[in-house]
Amino acid sequence: MERLQREIFERFEQYGQMQIFRFWEELNADERLNLCRQADQINLLHFSEIVNSLIDREKKSLRSDTPLLPAHYISLPSDETSSYRWEEAYNVGEQVLSEGRVAVFTAAGGQGTRLGFEGPKGAFAVTPVKRKSLFQIFAEKIRFAEKRYGHYIHWFIMTSDRNHNETIEFFGKNNSFGLSNVHFIRQGLLPAVTMGGKIMLEDKGRIAMHPDGHGGAFKAFVASGANAMLEAKGIDTISYFQVDNPLVPVIDSYFIGFHEKNRSRMSSRTILKAYPEEKVGIFCVLYGRSAVIEYSDLPIERAIERDRSGTLRFKTGNAGIHIFDRDFFSLLGNEMSGRPLPLHKAKKKIPTIDEDGKVIDPDVPNGIKFETFIFDALQFAERSIIVEGNRKEIFSPLKNSMGLDSPETCRQDQIRLFSKWLVKAGSDIPIDAKGLPPFNIEVSPLFADNERDFLSKWNDLEKRPAISSGSYIS
Ligand code: UD1
Repeated sequence: MERLQREIFERFEQYGQMQIFRFWEELNADERLNLCRQADQINLLHFSEIVNSLIDREKKSLRSDTPLLPAHYISLPSDETSSYRWEEAYNVGEQVLSEGRVAVFTAAGGQGTRLGFEGPKGAFAVTPVKRKSLFQIFAEKIRFAEKRYGHYIHWFIMTSDRNHNETIEFFGKNNSFGLSNVHFIRQGLLPAVTMGGKIMLEDKGRIAMHPDGHGGAFKAFVASGANAMLEAKGIDTISYFQVDNPLVPVIDSYFIGFHEKNRSRMSSRTILKAYPEEKVGIFCVLYGRSAVIEYSDLPIERAIERDRSGTLRFKTGNAGIHIFDRDFFSLLGNEMSGRPLPLHKAKKKIPTIDEDGKVIDPDVPNGIKFETFIFDALQFAERSIIVEGNRKEIFSPLKNSMGLDSPETCRQDQIRLFSKWLVKAGSDIPIDAKGLPPFNIEVSPLFADNERDFLSKWNDLEKRPAISSGSYIS
């Protein structure tokens, strides 16, 4: 311990961050050890460089004259040639899946503050009839794929300190929804700093640390041993998505096929923006490189800009769904690779203590938290593609407790999609102008999780169920 302590003190002294040891003399042996362990996790070199360059600058929004170009993307099939390309991609994706080369990764470390839900967001009950949780939907989609391709599929769920134990408990209570290869990996933490760049304390013996953003996925993937395990099994493709979307295609043959065919390192799914101010990041080309610009950083004049035909110029919204090559994913998780993701800062109210150790619970922002974003990996991908998805089929974000992107819109989006499949299959359920029947219905992902599979399964049924209020097709 003494050597570790000396070494850490020297390091923090060198970077002008000794204030975190201000109360050292008052700490007992355990508290000292814990503080040293926390301090040891911080990569001061990387962190300090970035913090110093950010601290005094106001949030750098894009200017309206920044050279920004719309991103090129593979659009949905619209004619014979493009349909052929999509069909080709589907077949390639099916091949990759039947070779057992795909693992699934879910970013579920966020807090769900806007939703106002206490537990892990993935535990939120979201389906219209059976009230299944988001995690259950994803689990059933994976079970369906396991059966179809004849392989176990490894599923990595990234949690944060705030919800790790609760997430594990939730899966435990539900017997992992019948899956046998679910792994929980905890994302890392980054320290909060004062407006002047000094690392803050939460109490006398604890640094104020916060989850490092979904960009922490890369490091957590390597540090947890997940990469080594998959490498040994010959699994080279990762299907990544965020926890907050009940329609997400967890395993998508088309998307995987396009990734493979284009030898892409990182592929992204786009949904076209529903309206100019929609709170989604946009894919674009910034200074010649592919990038995502967050909605909060996009000047309004760029958000509403239209081309000659009247369509939004920057319309390719980020659905938070990607396919990665596993070795690219792990490269970004290796601190020595020279590919550090940029830190994004946010001024926040951070509970802390003052110089005398008195507790401060601020009502105005008093410090800065940092996060890394998964999509910033785009700048390091030698090859990347963007593939359009039909938003009604793949995107229904759960963000707020009411209004837009809420449990109610998710419920409607699911019912609308299930009804569309049924109508396509020849059912005569009554549908209003919004595409909704006057009652709740639900299709289990164990029956089908996309139109193609639904139609083929439905047509094969010897006896098709009558559809009425509360129908559950399983
Ligand atoms: C996010 C995207 C936005 C995209 C939109 C689509 C970011 C910064 N922006 O916006 O470009 O168009 O989704 O719905 O992601 N998470 C972690 N660990 C963390 C923080 C977040 O795992 O430390 C996970 C959350 O559990 C959630 C996801 O990342 O699943 C998205 O995070 P959130 O902060 O809700 O992003 P949005 O503002 O919704």
